[in-house]
Amino acid sequence: MSTDRLADVDLTDASVWEQAAPHDWLDRLRAESPVHWHDESDGPGFWALTRHEDVHRVSTSPREFSSHAGGPLRLDPEPDALEQLRMVIIGMDPPDHRTFRAIVSKAFTPRTMARLEASLRAETVRVVGELRDARRCEFVTDVAARIPMWSISELMGVPPEDRQRLYELSHALIDDQDPEIAPTPDTALVASAEIFAYAAEMAVRERAHPSDNLTGALLQAEVDGRRLDDMEFTLFFLFLIVAGNETTRTATSQGLLALLQHPDQMQRLVADPGLVPSAVEEMLRWEPPIQHFRRTATEDLDLGGQAIARGDKVLMWYAASNRDPAVFADPHAFRIDRSPNPQQSFGIGEHFCLGANLARMSLRLLFTELLATVQNVHLEAQPRRLHSNLINGIKEMRIGYDVR
Ligand code: HEM
Repeated sequence: MSTDRLADVDLTDASVWEQAAPHDWLDRLRAESPVHWHDESDGPGFWALTRHEDVHRVSTSPREFSSHAGGPLRLDPEPDALEQLRMVIIGMDPPDHRTFRAIVSKAFTPRTMARLEASLRAETVRVVGELRDARRCEFVTDVAARIPMWSISELMGVPPEDRQRLYELSHALIDDQDPEIAPTPDTALVASAEIFAYAAEMAVRERAHPSDNLTGALLQAEVDGRRLDDMEFTLFFLFLIVAGNETTRTATSQGLLALLQHPDQMQRLVADPGLVPSAVEEMLRWEPPIQHFRRTATEDLDLGGQAIARGDKVLMWYAASNRDPAVFADPHAFRIDRSPNPQQSFGIGEHFCLGANLARMSLRLLFTELLATVQNVHLEAQPRRLHSNLINGIKEMRIGYDVR
């Protein structure tokens, strides 16, 4: 993707991202205009951040850069949608955010995660084990999508018969930039209404028969004398289904693709599975599952020498900050033993991903099991990427392999 003028760079164009993250644009922005005013055809414009330090500053300064004012996404939501976003953890600012996060964190305890680990390992062995029956598969559906949906369902107590439907709904909801997934503008709305109804039923069931899963913990946890109400629970459930599924599935597919595109790194990892944890961090750095999140300035301020006005939108482009040469040596090299690796794909600071431990654990278990089970993995067709500048998704990735 090349262009002569920075003003012609268009980070809102999903068809650009569908090909690949436009690293030559991102590199130029970082070098020439790291806090860059970017016009948009469908909004007032935004500041595009491409440096690691600026993404860090904005993410760790929630009072100056609000998630509540305009939500976490690029386009300004309609007033009703904004009201709902503000009831979800990701659309809150301190002090409310701290209170809410404390309730939710109680449900994401190390104990819950440790309890999940044994069964997650067993599920991973089962899913990967099915690869032995054939010599080819569609990796996204057959492997990458299954584990995150399974984990979230186990955590929340979603019965097996409902999981596939919820998975399809979450897909329609978040990947609505892609016409293949959301053919009409109503697709996402209808999907969210259906998930909504489902979560409301869960809350009723849970209140009648309390359990010790995440749903139970969320509905029972109390902080400062308050519990989540039904609407808060429903919105959080919806958010978790989307936040946990899309991201981990994407990280899994992108992670394997990165290894296939770097056979020397694949070989090293096979030879030394002890490198899986650092390989996972490098996969996350290399292809952030979420391309950007947004904040809104709450006051006039200076950022990287630019005058930001109150109300301005600020977008943090993780694919760029993760390859900032000021922080990462040889940033465009995929190195599974990179250390340190302060990648920003889980966000930083106030809203740092609550599911990061679960995602890391899932990815480590999966790649360990996968590489122990199959060999000579290769692409059988070009992967089909999602049409989106928000989710770095892969829709289809056909691979062939031999069983070890
Ligand atoms: C590789 C997988 C994942 C990636 C890359 C990812 C990425 C992110 C990012 C970038 C944020 C920060 C948003 C911001 O700064 O505005 C975030 C927040 C969050 N994520 Fe994840 N996520 C992943 C997996 C998960 C999973 C598996 C769950 C839950 C089961 C989860 C739950 C959450 C929650 C609850 C928040 C909101 C935290 C807050 O607002 O305080 N994520 N995630």
